[in-house]
Amino acid sequence: MDLIVAADRAELAKARDGLGGRIALVPTMGALHEGHRSLIRLARERADHVVVSVFVNPLQFAPEEDFSRYPRTFEADLAACAEEGVSVVFAPSAAEMYLPDRQVSLSSGHMGTVVEGAFRSGHFDGVLTVVLKLLNLVRPDVAVFGQKDAQQLALIRRMVTDLDVPVEIVGGPTLREPDGLALSSRNRYLSAGDRATALSLSAALRAGRSQDSGDAVLRAAGAVLDEAAGLDPPLRLDYLVLVDPATFEPVGEGYRGEAILAVAARVGATRLIDNVFVTLS
Ligand code: PAJ
Repeated sequence: MDLIVAADRAELAKARDGLGGRIALVPTMGALHEGHRSLIRLARERADHVVVSVFVNPLQFAPEEDFSRYPRTFEADLAACAEEGVSVVFAPSAAEMYLPDRQVSLSSGHMGTVVEGAFRSGHFDGVLTVVLKLLNLVRPDVAVFGQKDAQQLALIRRMVTDLDVPVEIVGGPTLREPDGLALSSRNRYLSAGDRATALSLSAALRAGRSQDSGDAVLRAAGAVLDEAAGLDPPLRLDYLVLVDPATFEPVGEGYRGEAILAVAARVGATRLIDNVFVTLS
């Protein structure tokens, strides 16, 4: 089947009606890389047809953030989707998605204000609002999201539970460069020097993961990040936290089992996030 490109609701509805069997949705903001492609493959394993949305959602960017300079590579994205056997790409305009007089949107609650949410006010409200709209428009059986954005994934699961959204949510593992750097559309902003400094994010997470108590995890990861603060260009840390994967609250001393070690830092003008699961015993 040839790839169908739908630019508005009507085209999407028509394309959607032509799809039989199980449908999977992979929401993206485009600038597709191997990480996105791995989610598309996961989606294909779980459904008969995959719909990929490509939409740089203005609602999830704060005024000072990189909305206008966010990478847009639509032709290459279409080629990647065709190669991966995607059935439909939904690529609406902002005007198609948001009426000028729109009133109602989602609140991500307390969980949207902690960790990443503390640095990006309103970000997760914007994410949940667009994801719910995409789920309503596409009506997939399953939707696939990356563990790379762990708090986003946890909040989407929370939304589906709290609002009884009839969809199955699947998380896909984080794809990395051979040297450990997590793939991200924003990596293309990094100069060679920035990139060398950026490696300390994944290095810190690896150092933390090899420990088995919460204190030791944070100490080992923190030591790598402290050192990176002295590099040229320096790593400027926003947070390093060890949290419960479902709530994103810091784990207490008695916590046992899987936790998420999450980090966010700025290198030059680029802000990067990464995380790993750690097992506390
Ligand atoms: P975007 O940053 O384009 O990411 C789309 C999906 O790809 C997300 O689920 C993200 O977690 C996943 N992803 C990103 N890097 C990855 C990697 N290295 N390995 C595996 N998966 C990776 O996340 C968004 O867009 C938006 O917030 C969106 C959910 C589309 C709502 O606008």
